Amino acid sequence: MHVDPILKTKEEIGYMREAGRILRSCHEHIEKWLTPGVTTGDINERVEAFLAERGATPEQKGYKGYPYATCASVNEVVCHGFPDDRELSTGDVVTIDMVVNKDGWLADSAWTYGIGEQRKSIRKLMKRTERALHKAIALAVPGNTLGDIGNAIERTARFYRYGIVKPLIGHGIGQYIHEPPNVLPYGKRRTGMMLTEGMVITIEPIFTRGSSGAVVWDEDGWTVRTVDGSWGVQYEHTVAITGDGPLILTDGT
Ligand code: MF3
Ligand code: CO
Repeated sequence: MHVDPILKTKEEIGYMREAGRILRSCHEHIEKWLTPGVTTGDINERVEAFLAERGATPEQKGYKGYPYATCASVNEVVCHGFPDDRELSTGDVVTIDMVVNKDGWLADSAWTYGIGEQRKSIRKLMKRTERALHKAIALAVPGNTLGDIGNAIERTARFYRYGIVKPLIGHGIGQYIHEPPNVLPYGKRRTGMMLTEGMVITIEPIFTRGSSGAVVWDEDGWTVRTVDGSWGVQYEHTVAITGDGPLILTDGT
C-alpha cells in the first residue's frame, strides 16, 4: 500500500529550484562561517538573516513544533540537533539541515562540515557518504524504483561496514516538507514504487562509523544520537525525476 506522490510540472520544479539555489548559496556561506569557536546558535542566526534578505523563510521553524530554522547535529548527534551556544572545535563535524521556502515552494538539503582538520577515518566517512548520495541520485530516473535508490545507499554502507541510520528517511517534497513517498536508505533492487517524471524527492543517507547505526532520541523529543557514541554524517539533496535524467535542485545550478 502506498499513497500517490504529488507530481510537479516543469514550472513548479523551476520554483523549487529557486528555493534550492538560495539554500545552496546559504550552505556555501555556512561552510565559511564554520570555524573553531563559532556556535551552532550563531550559524542559526546568520541563516535566518541570510534567508530574510533574500525573501525566503526557514520552513523547519515551527514545523511540528521544531523551534529553530536549522537542525545542527554535532559528532555523535546525527540528526535534528538543536542549535546551541557550545563552541565548536577543530576536529568536530556538524550537519546543518534546513528547508528553504521561497514563494511557497520548498527545497531541502543537509550537509556535514568539518571544523578545521578531521581525523582520517572521519574524512573517509564524509567522502563515502557523499558518494553514496550521488550513486543513489544517478538512479533517480523514470522506470527505476525507490528500492534501487535505497539499495545503492545500503550497498555502499555495507561495503565500508558503516552503520545506516534507518529511522531517518527521505521523502517527497513540494509545497509541504513531507509528502509521499518515503525514500528509505536501504532496500532491494527492482522493488517499491516506480519513479516517474514529475516526482520530487529528497535522498538523505546518514552513515555512522559504528556498524550498527542504532540511534536514540533525547528527552527533548528531537535530538537523535548514536547508541554506540560513534559519529555520523549526512548528505541530502532534493532531486526531481525528469525525462532528461536526475535534476538536483539543491546544488546551486
Ligand atoms: N530537513 C528534514 C529532512 O531532511 C526535515 C526536518 S524535520 C524538522 O527531512 F522538524 F526539523 F523540520
Ligand atoms: Co533535510
